[in-house]
Amino acid sequence: MVSWARHRIAHVYRFAPIARAAAVGCALSLLALTGCDGGVRGTPGGSGLRDPYFPRAGNGGYDVSHYDLTLAYDPDRRHLTGTAVITARATKDLSAFNLDLQGLEVRGVTVEGKTARFSRAGQELTVRPHDDLVKGETFRTTVRYAGQPQTVVDPDGSKEGWLPTADGALALGQPVGSMAWFPGNNHPSDKAAYDLSVTVPQGLRAVSNGELRSETTRGGRTTFHWHTAEPMASYLATVAIGRFEITRSTTKSGLPVYVAVDPTQAEASRAVLAKIPEVMEWAEDTFGPYPFSSTGAIVDRLKDTVYALETQSRPVYPGAPNLDTLVHEIAHQWYGNSVSPRSWRDVWLNEAFATYAEWLWAEDNGGAGAQQTFDELYRGDHYPDGAHNKAVWDFPPGRPSSAAHIFDPSVYDRGAMVLHKIRQTVGDDTFHDIAQGWAAAHRHGNASTADFTAYVEKKAPDKDFSKIWEDWLYGNGKPAHP
Ligand code: TRP
Ligand code: ZN
Repeated sequence: MVSWARHRIAHVYRFAPIARAAAVGCALSLLALTGCDGGVRGTPGGSGLRDPYFPRAGNGGYDVSHYDLTLAYDPDRRHLTGTAVITARATKDLSAFNLDLQGLEVRGVTVEGKTARFSRAGQELTVRPHDDLVKGETFRTTVRYAGQPQTVVDPDGSKEGWLPTADGALALGQPVGSMAWFPGNNHPSDKAAYDLSVTVPQGLRAVSNGELRSETTRGGRTTFHWHTAEPMASYLATVAIGRFEITRSTTKSGLPVYVAVDPTQAEASRAVLAKIPEVMEWAEDTFGPYPFSSTGAIVDRLKDTVYALETQSRPVYPGAPNLDTLVHEIAHQWYGNSVSPRSWRDVWLNEAFATYAEWLWAEDNGGAGAQQTFDELYRGDHYPDGAHNKAVWDFPPGRPSSAAHIFDPSVYDRGAMVLHKIRQTVGDDTFHDIAQGWAAAHRHGNASTADFTAYVEKKAPDKDFSKIWEDWLYGNGKPAHP
């Protein structure tokens, strides 16, 4: 529910096989899984990845390695024009495959340079390449599209996708909003590199993930080219278009810092944003080597999107952030962005670590100890709002009750309490080993809750975690003992 985000204001269906040539003449070759020409005859890829919470998100049959997105946006008309060149590898012989795209008009699709047929149904864009794709082959799909991108309303009522602002727009993608502005394999299990070129009216800027490769102005329009080399989940891709004040610096270790702030938020943001280098150094000490090639922030101004988002390398804040939120979003770069959830059921791993990072930051910087925060949550007086204190126990973090609850207090706070219980069991040294080792073991990958519990057990083979998993991670209701 959006209201919980207070402290961050600041069926799977398969295609019927498509007979692509004369049914009679090809009947035998179809049985032999070859085309009439003797080539491979594939079958369609799946239209979803059976995510337990977002079953239509993502698609089967291929694995994307790179998105090359060329966009132009006219804020006055709220009009987006895009060309997406998607490089992917077929994981089976394919006669057709899907991309996720919600809204917008598709003007044309090619695969390997040849015109492809396509059809649309809801968020599913089905592409039928001229030639079937062979398992293991790398293929390039180009989608040309245009229109007014949509704001996506999630099962919990929160808004994502394309969000118009007073001076431009902001794209947010957690959990599924990226399909509002580019076609892709919209699930965290398929991470890829990105190049994004965005053309906007001169005077406005486009700020995205990764590093700014070029900025060129011609004929009253400016094009910004952003590059993300490290694997990125689609939900972490962003672009912010509008007026921004830019500050560039480097951390002590030489990491580029690129901060973009909406001018109306500049003064209120300054003190907290100045702490980015210090928070980065603390986070590297605590979580291990930073997984990306740059850092920073995008501070925009949004009326009703009240949550910040850990967009890769450059978190988005909907207004001037507070320090806790900055620490939280920076911690997500390790937990969530580098080690990404296998499915949306595993999102507590993101939020528990990012929340626990806030507790650790407080503990290391003269604030409350993590034990105190844990005790307040257990007693039920951590938040001024009684309903919020109670919601911590609504369902177990390892099994959110539905897609409408994946960002509820249990996922954040009770998730962090799971981590604290692990720390109590193994002691501080082993806990830090686990936090760093987990980030290292799955760096730039994906991991599930089962991977995590197995990892913890392997790190401390003499300890018994069964009650923690049963009561705190998977149990219904408030555990009887803190
Ligand atoms: N994951 C974001 C964070 O913790 C917050 C967030 C994203 C969120 N989408 C949401 C919060 C929807 C509430 C509702 O930084
Ligand atoms: Zn978070």
